[in-house]
Amino acid sequence: MRMVDVILKKRDGGELSREEINFFVRGYTSGAIPDYQASALAMAIYFQNMSAREMSDLTMSMVRSGETVDLSEIRGIKVDKHSTGGVGDTTTLVLAPLVASLDIPVAKMSGRGLGHTGGTIDKLESIDGFHVEITKDKFIQLVNDDRIAIMSQTGNLTPADKKLYSLRDVTGTVESIPLIASSIMSKKIAAGADAIVLDVKTGAGAFMKTDKDAEKLAFAMVKIGNSVGRNTMAVISDMSQPLGFAVGNALEVKEAIDTLRGEGPEDLMELVLTLGSEMVVLAKKADTLEEARGKLIESIKVGRALEKFKAFIENQGGDPSIVDNPKKLPRAKYKIDLTALKSGVVSNIVADEIGISAMLLGAGRATKEDKIDPSVGLVLHKKIGDRVEKGEKFLTIHSNCRDVEEIKTRIYKNITIGSRAEKPVLIHKVIMK
Ligand code: URA
Ligand code: CA
Repeated sequence: MRMVDVILKKRDGGELSREEINFFVRGYTSGAIPDYQASALAMAIYFQNMSAREMSDLTMSMVRSGETVDLSEIRGIKVDKHSTGGVGDTTTLVLAPLVASLDIPVAKMSGRGLGHTGGTIDKLESIDGFHVEITKDKFIQLVNDDRIAIMSQTGNLTPADKKLYSLRDVTGTVESIPLIASSIMSKKIAAGADAIVLDVKTGAGAFMKTDKDAEKLAFAMVKIGNSVGRNTMAVISDMSQPLGFAVGNALEVKEAIDTLRGEGPEDLMELVLTLGSEMVVLAKKADTLEEARGKLIESIKVGRALEKFKAFIENQGGDPSIVDNPKKLPRAKYKIDLTALKSGVVSNIVADEIGISAMLLGAGRATKEDKIDPSVGLVLHKKIGDRVEKGEKFLTIHSNCRDVEEIKTRIYKNITIGSRAEKPVLIHKVIMK
């Protein structure tokens, strides 16, 4: 087989066979196929698309390019949740202990954040002592004993995806549905999930800026998962504005604690219950979504979810007393309130710009090498559709640097006060197979 023929076939709109896809993935991973041929194929896929069968074959080929995680020693159905990334997305911090409190195993491998979106591990590491560098044996033992553990990604999972993703980044081929879908699904499958709940974000703060694209991506991923024997479903959720109120690591841990107490922001709670109910049903701990939702709400009400969060923190070396005393979390030196310049209704909050503002304060990384400041970030007091009076504070900057003029300007530019606005719908669509 010659790589040039594979490229020609896709360029001219043909459907690649499983053998051709395997030939490419193996050859590219080993170095036998050079970057320039892989770029040409990625560009051909970008223009010609892939069939559902090609996407599944590409996904499984990338899974086989490296190690896979064997979670078979953990009892129960391992349901993983994946978000395509958003601003102030505190969901996993709440969802993981909440679902675990219903005896569902949460064995999560997580990454760190890059750009305007934050990573779950960065958020958890704002808790003094908490660490994710645990051995595979310890990880499995913790999930079996306490139903929850998070470890940083180790081992050589999906090397083909790593190489291809870096190449796509510099060849204008990131925005291709089959390439994104196979990239995400290969990582989830290699990490050992039995079932997968996808949270595909749509809007300014999301990777997919329109509902149409978000739906296409969700459909592609759901199809891939189910065709390779992993129960998969997707929720398309709003990311036109940040989720909840807090954007920033320790600030989001505090927000997660509030939510686990039943006192969190409405949108965050609703998204947690929507995704959580699907996870509970997939894990076969409830027959219907209504029953699942009831169980989740009960666990919050009686404090079981919060207790699970404490145990989780303690198991991984963190100080669990922050749950009862969040003032012990890292706190920024300065709190700077931003007040409304006129009265009206908040009509727009550009999520990605708010994410970038938090990143510039030190809450995120512009490059992989940047160090994160866990204490800094932003807290919204108003969301789209809320009334605000002239002079009333609508946002607080938490900073360790006194001069935040540039960030203030950016925020004022990206939060609009108009005469009227509806609250955005949070759940746009649910996609089952
Ligand atoms: N995230 C991924 O993991 N892969 C992509 O291709 C795009 C976003
Ligand atoms: Ca948040």
